[in-house]
Parts: sequence; structure tokens; C-alpha cells
Amino acid sequence: MKIVVLNGSPKGNISVTIQYIHYIQKKFKQHELKIINISQKINQIEKNAEAFHSIISDIKSSDGVIWAFPLYVFTVHSNYLRFIELIFERNVEDAFKEKYTSIISTSIHFYDHTAINYINSICDDLNMNYIDYFSLHMYDLEKEDIRKNLLKFANNYFDSIENEVITLKNYRPIKHSPISYIPKITHNKINVLNKKVIIVTDSLDNNNLKNMLNKFKNSFSQNVELVNLQDIDMKGSCLGCLKCGYNYECIYTDKDDFINFYNNKLKTADIIIFAGTIKYRHLSSTWKKFFDRGFFNTHTPSLSGKQVGFMISGALNQIPNLKQILESYTQWQGSNLVGFITDEYDTSEEIDNQLHAFSYNLIKLSNVNYHKPATFLGIAGMKIFRDEIWGNIRFPFIADHKAYKALRVYDFPQKNYKSRITNSILILMSKLPYIRNEIYSNRIKPSLIESLTKIVEDETV
Ligand SMILES: Cc1cc2nc3c(=O)[nH]c(=O)nc-3n(C[C@H](O)[C@H](O)[C@H](O)COP(=O)(O)O)c2cc1C
Repeated sequence: MKIVVLNGSPKGNISVTIQYIHYIQKKFKQHELKIINISQKINQIEKNAEAFHSIISDIKSSDGVIWAFPLYVFTVHSNYLRFIELIFERNVEDAFKEKYTSIISTSIHFYDHTAINYINSICDDLNMNYIDYFSLHMYDLEKEDIRKNLLKFANNYFDSIENEVITLKNYRPIKHSPISYIPKITHNKINVLNKKVIIVTDSLDNNNLKNMLNKFKNSFSQNVELVNLQDIDMKGSCLGCLKCGYNYECIYTDKDDFINFYNNKLKTADIIIFAGTIKYRHLSSTWKKFFDRGFFNTHTPSLSGKQVGFMISGALNQIPNLKQILESYTQWQGSNLVGFITDEYDTSEEIDNQLHAFSYNLIKLSNVNYHKPATFLGIAGMKIFRDEIWGNIRFPFIADHKAYKALRVYDFPQKNYKSRITNSILILMSKLPYIRNEIYSNRIKPSLIESLTKIVEDETV
């Protein structure tokens, strides 16, 4: 069989992900795995029609397609996302129809699920026959049990193609016919006081988004700045070169305006609004380029303490995966998510009122420096980074290691001597049946609230 492998790594052949494909190829010599370096060659693929159509004709004549990609900032690399946009923009969806497909991703398992969900949903939109995913830690090839399972996964994939199995759909098509939003209600202006508000958008082509932005800007008595990513000189997308690992210095430093913009506009703002239009289940590839290029801050939160809101035109509420990506991004950054405002309402008046409440809350929460605690999204994500930076990837991410020490990210439970001693004593005591019975029957519940009640009762706290 001939299988087309769409490589999502900007590093092309020097890619971790592709080593897993080479391994599968070595074990299944009877099949041809044709690797196409999508992310690395996106400029050529986009500009040269022949290059694009040769990929599409490879896909058409193939028996299956493997999406092989590394995780890049919660999902796939911006160039891979651009390729997906091109599939829809150039109406070549048919080439993918009913092709058997699987996902192989590599990462450090930080939001691998959101990348997989995204590609799975694109496969379903393309009417492909989606078999399964296999999410690898980047060094999993060194582990025998995982190698064995990888081969079982590949075998199942080839077998499913040969036997033309019936596949399951995981995602319903998106249905979205937004109203045409025209601001109707004039609210009292809100004073931004001394707060620096910045709106970042990727385009002003969409009328609903443009009108929402205008209404938002007009909510305030002072001018708020709007930056269009299209106006920022970005020489290219993230190369995955890891030069930033040493001291946050990017390969593009002094070569384009992105880092200046990020450091001088975003990092100095109190309130940031990310505004965009959903395209094919994600924000645009321009937005993704922004998120990827922001990786020059590596794994160190760079927007801590800010109030953040998202203003989105599109069916965000039908794409919980995207909502989770955006929420997780803010939690990981240490920002406070104030909310999402979209054009998914029945009337312009509803959007007007939502926008007014949104503007009001942004200023109010910024004034009191409010910050809600992270949920599983932020806490679990940070624990993955903590362990990786402490261990496997401290080199090359030296800057993260220094920052994590300063920010007390290394909060391993091993250091909690008090609870370690208490645990040892209680474990020992519970070996005696009488004491065990007393503890589990009568003591556990009161002991769980002991320290809390002290605080509640303490008038000085
Ligand atoms: C810019 C950048 C962003 C990354 N983002 C993530 C991420 O969000 N989650 C994750 O688990 N790993 C992330 N990684 C790690 C890569 O996914 C991992 O190293 C992968 O194996 C690289 O594969 P490749 O060599 O095929 O590009 C990121 C790496 C880079 C350079």
C-alpha cells in the first residue's frame, strides 16, 4: 500500500516525529510510507501551485494518510495549520474523502489531547475514515513496550485499510449562520483609569468582528490601542530551533518586529483582548504564528497578572476543544481569563449588552488585581513542565530552569518534610487494628478541616 505521511515538523527530515515513521517503515517494508514535509515547505507549497497539486494528487492516489506532527503550543505548528486552511480555501477536500487516516504525534504530553482532537475533527470534516491516534513522548522510541505498541497501532491501521473497516465519527459538522451584528445600544462610557488596554487582532475583514471591536473600543472614555498582527513585520514562523532555550533570545531577534511588539506592547499591558475569526475549527494560522513565535519565552509564563479576554467571531461554543486551548493558554501564562465574547447570539442587542459587561468586568477586575486560581488545566500543565525542565529538558532550556527556581515552580512534594513525617507516623500507627479503626471511623473527617477551621475562627486572618 502507498501511505502519504504529512509531516508537521518545521524541522523537516531532522524531526523527532519522523523517526517514528522511519521505525514503522523499517518494520513494514511491504508498504510505502511517502513523507511530505508540509510545515518545512509551506511557503513553496502555498506559492507554487504545482507543488500544492502534486501533494494533493499523491493523497488522491494513496491508500491512506498519516498526520504525523509534533505538538507546537497546544496544537500543531502554524504552517501545518496553514496547509489545512489551504485544503479548504482551494476546495480540494475531495482528495481526502474516505481515505483511511491516523495520527502520530510527538510531544512532552502538554496538551497533546487538544492537538489530536483538532486534527481528528479536521479529518471528520474532510470525511476521512479516521482510525486512531498514537501520542508519543518525544523519547518513547527508546522504550521497548512502546515500540511494540506502536507496531500494533500501525498494524491495526494497515489492517483496517485492507479490510475496509467502518470507522466512527467523533465530531459533528459545524453549523453556524451568525446574525449580522450592528451595534444598537449606547451604554455609558467606562473609565479605563490608569489601565493599559490592548486589543490584538489578525484581521479586520470580518464585519461582525470589526463591529464588535468598534463597539468595545467605544465602551471606554479613553482611547484603547488596537494592533493588527498583519501590520507587524514577522519574517517567518517558529523554526523549532530552540535557540531561545538559553536566554530567551530568538533566532529572529533584531530581524523582525515581533519580539519588540511582544515585549513592549503585550508584556506592559494590564488588559489584553485577543480578537479573531474562527477558520476551520481554529483561529487563523496568523494567530497560530503569533502563539508559536511567543515561544521565545519558552516554558516561562510571560503574561502573568494580566486580565485577558477573547473576542471571537465564529461558532466557538461548538468547538469546546478550541475554547479549552484558549483557556489553558491564559492559565499557563498566569493571566486571569475574564471571558469569551462571540457573535453567537440572536440579536445585536444581546451582543451589545455582553460587550458592555465584558468591558466593565475587564476594568473592574484589573483595578482590584483579581486573579482566580488555576484549574486542572493550568495546574496539571505546569506540573508537566516542572518535571520536564527539572529532568529531561533542563538543557537546552536553561532560562526556564533559572526562572522556575525564582518562581518557586519546583514545588515537588518531596520537599514537604512536615507531611512526610506525619505520613510516616500515621502509616505506622495504622498498622495497629484498634488505632486504624479509630482513625478511619472517627478521626479522618475532623482532621481534614482542622487547619481550615483555625483560619476561619482566627479574627486576625
Ligand atoms: C516551539 C515549540 C513548541 C512546543 N510546544 C509543545 C506543546 O505545546 N506541548 C508539548 O507537549 N510539546 C511541545 N513542544 C515539544 C515538541 O512537540 C517535541 O519536542 C516534539 O517531539 C518535536 O518534534 P519534531 O522534532 O518532529 O519537530 C514544543 C516544542 C517547540 C520547539
